[in-house]
Amino acid sequence: MCGIIGYVGKSEAVPILLDGLERLEYRGYDSAGVAVVSPESELRVVKTKGRLSVLREHLEQQDPLRGTIGIGHTRWATHGEPNDTNAHPHIGQDGKIAVVHNGIIENYLEIRELLERKGIIFQSETDTEVIAQLMEYYYRKLGNLMDAVYAVLGRIEGAYAMGILCKDFPGQMIAARKDAPLLIGYGEDGNYIASDVTALLRYTRTVTYMEDGEVAVLTADGVQIFDQDRTAIDKPRHTIEWDVSAAEKGGYAHFMLKEIMEQGEAVRKTISPRVHDGRVVIEELAGMEPYLQGLRKICIVACGSAYHVGMIGKYALERLLRIPVDAYLASEFRYSEPLLGDDTLVIVISQSGETLDSMAALREAKKRGSKVLSIVNVVGSSIARESDITLYTWAGPEIAVATTKAYTTQMALLILLGVYCAECNGKIDAEERKAILDEFDKLPEKIDGVLSDLKIYQEAAARYFNQDSVFFIGRNLDYALGLEGSLKLKEISYIHSESYAAGELKHGTISLIEPGTLVIALATYTPLIEKTRSNIVEVRARGADVIAVATEETAPYVKDQADELMILPKTHPLLQSVLGVLPLQLFAYYVALNRGCDIDKPRNLAKSVTVE
Ligand code: M6R
Repeated sequence: MCGIIGYVGKSEAVPILLDGLERLEYRGYDSAGVAVVSPESELRVVKTKGRLSVLREHLEQQDPLRGTIGIGHTRWATHGEPNDTNAHPHIGQDGKIAVVHNGIIENYLEIRELLERKGIIFQSETDTEVIAQLMEYYYRKLGNLMDAVYAVLGRIEGAYAMGILCKDFPGQMIAARKDAPLLIGYGEDGNYIASDVTALLRYTRTVTYMEDGEVAVLTADGVQIFDQDRTAIDKPRHTIEWDVSAAEKGGYAHFMLKEIMEQGEAVRKTISPRVHDGRVVIEELAGMEPYLQGLRKICIVACGSAYHVGMIGKYALERLLRIPVDAYLASEFRYSEPLLGDDTLVIVISQSGETLDSMAALREAKKRGSKVLSIVNVVGSSIARESDITLYTWAGPEIAVATTKAYTTQMALLILLGVYCAECNGKIDAEERKAILDEFDKLPEKIDGVLSDLKIYQEAAARYFNQDSVFFIGRNLDYALGLEGSLKLKEISYIHSESYAAGELKHGTISLIEPGTLVIALATYTPLIEKTRSNIVEVRARGADVIAVATEETAPYVKDQADELMILPKTHPLLQSVLGVLPLQLFAYYVALNRGCDIDKPRNLAKSVTVE
């Protein structure tokens, strides 16, 4: 979604802004812009529809935008189509105040009409311009910029992270946040704001996360932060452990491929701090045994791929804990008046920790008296901070829009959590615990093994990249896995794809199978392999081409029914999907490559979805 960067310091601002925006490109955007206050105290804005390369061309065609203070933005259109006028920054009618904004101002129409009645003429269709115009209006009226900022914050409703410049204060940048991420970076050469830490890694690793209602005033020499009552506050500074290379391609053609290949190491980082002497140790849950023993239900809530991890969790945790576990789409859960209470644990899963629907579901769960445990990748993100308990996946920055290493690490962590809770509740014996943990130990190596030979996926993709439609089928954990395989394929290759529980196909969807239709059959779940085989036979009988993903153990059951057979090492059944997703990620990647798609930044998508 939209990205924000801001800088005030001793260097020229525009190169820093462009570099920061480039690092935010992965979030998805359709227009971009920058504003600086020049040494002559002029506010200058350049913005355009399209990629950053277009913005760079526009900048080159003008008098250089000089100034050591500036704000930049990549916009993912919500209110108003992607065009030059709707791009950020937006300025007020007097040309004094410039604003970049992430989020949505819900009451913008009402404020716009009010300002229009006062003779203010709007240029764009955006909700953001309302902020700039209203701030100038209050600034004119109250004669004090901070009074105007607080007046605006008191008047607008919705979500925002914003950066503000005013030409009357050429050395000062203001930032404000509510329900959208924003952090402050402290550099040697100046200070920064950004919506995402990756924009700052080149300049500083020392950051402060802004909280809802806070306002910050940044100058070249320092930063002051105020709470919503305008009282100055001290906030902790954090050191970001990721280094710059973690957010670079490192020789790979795409971030997605790099992140696929990093999965062995990422899963190792997720598991190893949490397994000691043959036991799962989750420090964040220390002392919570009585609470865990009293649990009657678990709700896993998430969006997209994280929801698919929740589906795996439903099967795995129910088996381990023998209590009802359900997976919910966060966008539905939040409005479903969920039946919760203090004996229900709500697990929110999110890579970014900023997904608005998941955040809203979290708040709903807390309001209804349940504890929320989140599984999050981005340290210090909003979901991480608002949860009662946060478990980090430690997968490192994930840049490609299509999630890969976040998915596998979330799954590994969720199953570890299941083992931990099962032990607390006396639901797992030492032998089973050992069987699972032994396989956890070997998992990173097995992942690396699968990823060491990509030929079969490249060849399968070369053969099938022209399909119009692809179906995934599987049973139990394989059904949950198919959901992810299907999403991966459609989001980056734009091929229509659907995923079904294998036994469900004959209740309607099988009518879509015709000669040459590609069916990807997930056949890694040993207990139901004979049933899955029958379903493969059914689609083969209707002429489907079948790619089967099996294990060393299940391959003999399906090999005579497969046009392509991808064989995975065997692991514990609960962990098999961690390996099972690898062929699906790679197949999707190579299909998209063959189709010439923009793999890391698929059309219409954003990395972190901060709108409803
Ligand atoms: O950051 P989150 O994990 O909360 O994001 C959830 C989904 O938006 C995300 O998994 C999305 O489905 C990905 N594009 C899938 O690759």
